[in-house]
Amino acid sequence: MEIKLASSYGFCFGVKRAIQIASEHQNSFTMGPLIHNQKEIDRLKNENNVGLYENIDDVNNGDTVIIRTHGIPKNDLHTLKQKEAKVINATCPFVTTPQNIVKKMSSEGYSIVIFGDSSHPEVKGVKSYGDDVYVVLNSDELKTIKFKNDKIATVAQTTRKKDEYLKIVNELMLTHKEVRVFNTICDATFENQAAARELSLEADIMIVIGGKNSSNTKQLLDICKTNCFDSYLIEDESEINPNWFKNKKLCGITAGASTPDWVIQKCVDKLREL
Ligand code: F3S
Repeated sequence: MEIKLASSYGFCFGVKRAIQIASEHQNSFTMGPLIHNQKEIDRLKNENNVGLYENIDDVNNGDTVIIRTHGIPKNDLHTLKQKEAKVINATCPFVTTPQNIVKKMSSEGYSIVIFGDSSHPEVKGVKSYGDDVYVVLNSDELKTIKFKNDKIATVAQTTRKKDEYLKIVNELMLTHKEVRVFNTICDATFENQAAARELSLEADIMIVIGGKNSSNTKQLLDICKTNCFDSYLIEDESEINPNWFKNKKLCGITAGASTPDWVIQKCVDKLREL
């Protein structure tokens, strides 16, 4: 069986940057998981003593606190400052952009529509920067909203699909005179998605490596499944099931934007053994 890696996969710029920042701040804590990959979080704890606060109330005065790639809500940042924490900002710059857009457009009197998952930390953070903000996952959800303003500005969660964002933008255009559209979807996700799409068209089995709670990893799996029925999401090499590979000729591999290279390499090694 041939094994082929997608032409673009794995760590994106924002995640690499956050890990670099965390590695340079030993004996610190991250506010929420730094990235959506438990193995890398464990490695940072073991090798750099970077701990994790899940709850802002647990932060002690004077702690060094690293803000996760997805950002945090404005109020949490305020609380950290009140606690005199030394705040190190590892928010991905592509997440800071929608935060700033929401802040600016909200101050100019626009209602804000965020295309994304309201329970995702990135969306919670971006939402906190506006006053009249609505989060939707599809265009149907717009029909239930009574907007306070006729002026709408819209941003998307960085890991969303462009074609779905366009459907939301289209619906807004049909119902509002003024719609300001900001394309905040991250190209890194797009590049990994395009490469996964291409490879899954030729492979007869696809392995997607990444955290099961990672939104962009799940999207990669969806894309692969569209083209290749035998697509599997695994977090590490221990989840590889040899039965999947019977009669398979080409195994494609891709990995989410928070998946470390060393995890990918272990999976590739195990597949080569098969
Ligand atoms: Fe940033 Fe894009 Fe990665 S938003 S964290 S570079 S997927």
